[in-house]
Amino acid sequence: MWLKNVFMSLSQNQALNKLAQKYGFKLGAQTVVAGTNITEMIESVKELNAHGIAATVDNLGEFVYEKSEAIEAKDQILEVLEAIHEHQVDAHISLKPTQLGLDIDFDFCLDNLTRIVAQADEYNIFINMDMEDHAHLKPSFELFDTLAAKYQNIGTVIQAYFYESTELIQTYKEHRLRIVKGAYKESPEVAWQQKKDIDENFIKLIEYHLLSGKFTSIGTHDHHVINHIKQFVEDHDIPKDKFEFQMLYGFRKDMQLDLAKEGYHFCTYVPFGNDWYGYFMRRLAERPQNLNLITKQMFNKKTNTLLIVSLLAFVLGRLSKRKKK
Ligand code: FDA
Repeated sequence: MWLKNVFMSLSQNQALNKLAQKYGFKLGAQTVVAGTNITEMIESVKELNAHGIAATVDNLGEFVYEKSEAIEAKDQILEVLEAIHEHQVDAHISLKPTQLGLDIDFDFCLDNLTRIVAQADEYNIFINMDMEDHAHLKPSFELFDTLAAKYQNIGTVIQAYFYESTELIQTYKEHRLRIVKGAYKESPEVAWQQKKDIDENFIKLIEYHLLSGKFTSIGTHDHHVINHIKQFVEDHDIPKDKFEFQMLYGFRKDMQLDLAKEGYHFCTYVPFGNDWYGYFMRRLAERPQNLNLITKQMFNKKTNTLLIVSLLAFVLGRLSKRKKK
């Protein structure tokens, strides 16, 4: 648990985020992030497509508090749309509202999102709006409501750890949804903390949405959940074109290929770009066993400055907090 907290704190450290961007693609991130530019990302997507796997592409971005950064993020996502269209790859886009300025101004963020969704609509490309932490939940659904009233090519995410997820899935049952357990550190006031409770609710939400008949993306690496859902769809005659499994790039690659070979629709979440640090730290927080990605790199490359700076920053941060107390 302490390791989970370490990585969660590190994921929110803006100074380290900037440092990571400056010092480049390190710490083993390249095994779970598909490159730092569009050319590398398109190559990764083509490779997945060759195995019958679709992609949802995330042009990574966090800590956007300046309008210029949000505009840059919007322009980059428009370039990603152009690349998907030009190369005719089987891919759509995942994006985060804060990346497009939700922390700056709601209408500004809505303008950026509208520009992207409208362009994607012209190209017949789907846009998934990822969900972030609880503080952004309400405004994110307000953005979604406005966009979904006008465009069909947009869907969003329901996070099973939130108590309000049952109400949310009922409200949004007519939309294409990705259902996940939830990745952020949330308080017991708003979210279940125990794995058992989250897993139980996760299954309930997936079953509910599958039965509603709208397209369901099941975002998980959990083989218990995947096996349960395989049986559930069979028992309820739910056709394979009504759902897909999704996993993150670089995780459980064999299982990704096996599911595609078994004839299930499969979509890999493909993150790319310079702003990989927060995403990578959240993956380590979720599953500290992923640390082996880092240790392999450390042994390959002797030492890794950024990792050491990260851990030092964390320890010093904790010490100074204790002193303040
Ligand atoms: P979890 O981490 O609970 O693991 C359950 C079990 O599965 C483990 O005990 C282990 O047995 C097995 N397992 C898991 N990973 C494994 C691995 N790498 N190798 C071997 N065994 C493994 N979150 C969010 O808040 N907002 C969002 O928009 C999204 N979007 C999103 C998209 C996609 C495609 C995915 C896959 C995930 C997200 N998430 C997300 C993250 C999600 O909320 C969640 O934090 C992670 O998927 C981790 O939970 P899992 O269900 O994968 O399994």
